Amino acid sequence: MKTFNIASIPGDGIGKETVSAGRQVLNTVCDVHDGLRMEYLDLDWSCEYYLKNGRMMPEDGLEVLRSCDAIFLGAVGFPGVPDHVSLWGLLLPIRRTFRQYINLRPVKLLPGVITPLANRKPEDIDFLVVRENNEGEYSNMGGRLYQGTDQEIVVQNTVFTRYGVERVIRYAFDLAVKTGRQQVTSATKSNGINFTMPFWDEVFAEVGKTYPAITRNQYHIDALCARFVTHPQDFDVVVGSNLFGDILTDLGPAIAGSIGIAPSANIDPTKEYPSMFEPVHGSAPDIAGKGIANPMGQIWCGAMMLDHLGFADCGELVMQALTETLAAGMTTADVGGRSNTREVTEAVCSRIRMLAGTVA
Ligand code: NAI
Ligand code: MG
Repeated sequence: MKTFNIASIPGDGIGKETVSAGRQVLNTVCDVHDGLRMEYLDLDWSCEYYLKNGRMMPEDGLEVLRSCDAIFLGAVGFPGVPDHVSLWGLLLPIRRTFRQYINLRPVKLLPGVITPLANRKPEDIDFLVVRENNEGEYSNMGGRLYQGTDQEIVVQNTVFTRYGVERVIRYAFDLAVKTGRQQVTSATKSNGINFTMPFWDEVFAEVGKTYPAITRNQYHIDALCARFVTHPQDFDVVVGSNLFGDILTDLGPAIAGSIGIAPSANIDPTKEYPSMFEPVHGSAPDIAGKGIANPMGQIWCGAMMLDHLGFADCGELVMQALTETLAAGMTTADVGGRSNTREVTEAVCSRIRMLAGTVA
C-alpha cells in the first residue's frame, strides 16, 4: 500500500468546483486500487485569502508544500486582486522554488470535442508540448534607465544555461521514448535571435544525437505556430523555451477544442521537490458557483499526477473513463453538452468502477 500526501489548493472561482470533482475521481481510483491511497492537505490559499491576510499564502507556505508528494491546484485569480499579485504570490514561487522546470501540456483532440480547425479528426491532433519553465526569457533580470524621458533605455535579459537547456531537451527526448513517439520538434528563432537561439539549436542537436531512434526536427517559432494550424498531424513531441513554450501551450489547447479540458503539469522530473498539476483554464468568474464548469481538465490533471507518482496504469484508467464519457456525449455546455459538473464527474467515476470490474 502506497499513501501519497497531496496538497490540495482549489484557489478561486471554479477552481473550487473542479478540484472537488478531480478529488472525487482520484478517490474512486483509490477505491478500486488496493495499493493506492491519497491523503489531502486542504489549503485555502487564494485571492480570498489574500484579501483577508494581505498575502496569497502564509509565510511558511512553501515549507508546508515541500513536505507533500504533489500539489493539485485548481485556478488562482479573481476580479479585485491584480493578476500579477496572484501569479507572483503563489504560482511562480511554487514553480521556481520547486525547480518545476518542465511545463508539460498534452494537445489531444478527444472524440466528441469540436476543434476550430476544419475537417480534423482525433488522430490528426495528438502531441505533447514541453515548455522550459524556469529560465530563458522570463529571467526577471534587466532594468529601466531615464524612465519617462525620451532617452529612456529598457533592457530585459534572456538567460539560457547549458544545464537548463540540456535538461529540458533531454526530457523531451525521454518523453518521446517513453510514449513511443517517433519525433521531437524544437521551437527556435536562430535567424533573428543570434546568440541564445543558435546555442539552443546546438544543444538540441547534441542531445538529439544520443537518441538515434528519434527523428529531430526544428522550425522557427513563427512558422511553427502556422504549422500547428495547417499540419497538426506532423507533431509528436514539441520542445520550446519559456516564452516560445508559453505561446505554443496556449495555441495547442486552442486547436484541441475546449479550454475546459486542457491539463497541464509543472514537473520536477528529479522528484526531489513536489510537482504541481493544474488545468490550463483560469477561475472563470463568469460561471463560478453555478456548478456548470467542465471538470475534465482537472480530472486529466489527476491522471497526469497519478502517472508522475508512478501509477501510470491508474492514470490510463482515468483517461479511458474520461474519453469514453466524452464520446458518449456526457459533457458540459462549453463542449456542447447538457450535463453539469456533478453529473460529468459521477459519470467518469462510475466508468472507472465499471472498467476496473467493481461495479457499485
Ligand atoms: P478563464 O480560463 O478563467 O476563462 C475564460 C473563458 O473560458 C470563460 O468564458 C470561462 O467561463 C471559460 N472556461 C474556463 N474554464 C472553463 C471550464 N472548466 N468549464 C467551462 N468553461 C470554462 O480565463 P480568464 O477569464 O482570462 O481568467 C479569469 C481569472 O483566472 C483571472 O484572474 C486570471 O488571472 C486567472 N487565471 C488563472 C490561471 C491559473 O490559475 N493557472 C490561468 C488562467 C487564468
Ligand atoms: Mg500562457
